[in-house]
Amino acid sequence: MKFYLAPLEGITGHIYRNALEKYFPGTDRYFTPFIAPDQNRILRTKERRDVLPEHNHVPDLVPQILTNDAREFQRTALVLQEMGYQEVNLNLGCPSGTVVSKKRGSGLLAYPDEVDRLLEQIFENVDLKISVKTRIGKDDASKALTLMEIYRRYPLSELIVHPRTQKDFYRGEPDQEAFGEILSLSYPFPVCYNGNLLTVRDYRAFCERFPKVTSVMLGRGVIANPGLIRYLKTGEAIQKESLHLFHDEVLEGYRNVFGEDKNALFRMKEMWIYMIHLFSDHEKHMKKIRKAQNLLEYRCAVDALFREQELLTEGPRRWNLPQR
Ligand SMILES: Cc1cc2nc3c(=O)[nH]c(=O)nc-3n(C[C@H](O)[C@H](O)[C@H](O)COP(=O)(O)O)c2cc1C
Repeated sequence: MKFYLAPLEGITGHIYRNALEKYFPGTDRYFTPFIAPDQNRILRTKERRDVLPEHNHVPDLVPQILTNDAREFQRTALVLQEMGYQEVNLNLGCPSGTVVSKKRGSGLLAYPDEVDRLLEQIFENVDLKISVKTRIGKDDASKALTLMEIYRRYPLSELIVHPRTQKDFYRGEPDQEAFGEILSLSYPFPVCYNGNLLTVRDYRAFCERFPKVTSVMLGRGVIANPGLIRYLKTGEAIQKESLHLFHDEVLEGYRNVFGEDKNALFRMKEMWIYMIHLFSDHEKHMKKIRKAQNLLEYRCAVDALFREQELLTEGPRRWNLPQR
């Protein structure tokens, strides 16, 4: 099985990816959060910083592009190619309202003909490997197989399927039954699964149900337990010491990049929304972390958590993830 780290805007930037690779190696492929070009600009400063090869110390990084415009895709891909990238990923999954209202991300899935046209133009003009990350529809999954029929006519390097619709956002369970139907078609490229493989149990159940799948993309499960992929691959459990070092490296990385603590703490708190679930009896600690106003308060809260609580190596059986 190949394991990919899902792109999570605001969390899995280069600071996070580098620290993950350093302390918990095992991820086969990393994806950048989406780069969203527009008519005026290909890469924003923060997008360029994130994707520059000299800022990335991971074995295999695939930049992701969010657009419905073949020319914008082509221009962005060219810049990335000049940086040395050999593959890019097209985002047809983002459910956010502002993205969808511009018919981007999962917003385009309501118009299969336009998806077809976009892919046709992209494959005519871009000389790079291209993978697609897709949901299974916009309002419902009735066009899922139509979309898959379209995808399989193109020489994608891989199709990553998150079996939810735009309307689902991240709520409820992904539709694994629909994923099974999707897999019953044949594809000239590998089909990777993504969605709610949050714990060791989830992963094992998935493998039993879909023994032929050869790649999975994990997001929130890894943010919650940065040792998850290594554990699934080698059985080596996460230790407090390495988690603490990983945490400190991410914190210092953010402090350097942002040049002040407020933004760094904001980013760290986003990470804790997930990672707190790796600790036993964590409610009061999470409150303190959330309330911390400065670096000193933040460090005190985190140190107390590490000192007083234990890690749940296999992850909690189930946790309440933020439903956004
Ligand atoms: C905060 C957040 C940011 C995300 N940003 C992106 C993104 O930039 N590009 C993308 O394709 N998906 C993005 N996603 C979706 C994830 O890549 C992934 O598909 C989703 O979290 C489901 O996988 P999981 O259940 O393993 O977390 C984001 C999800 C979250 C929660």
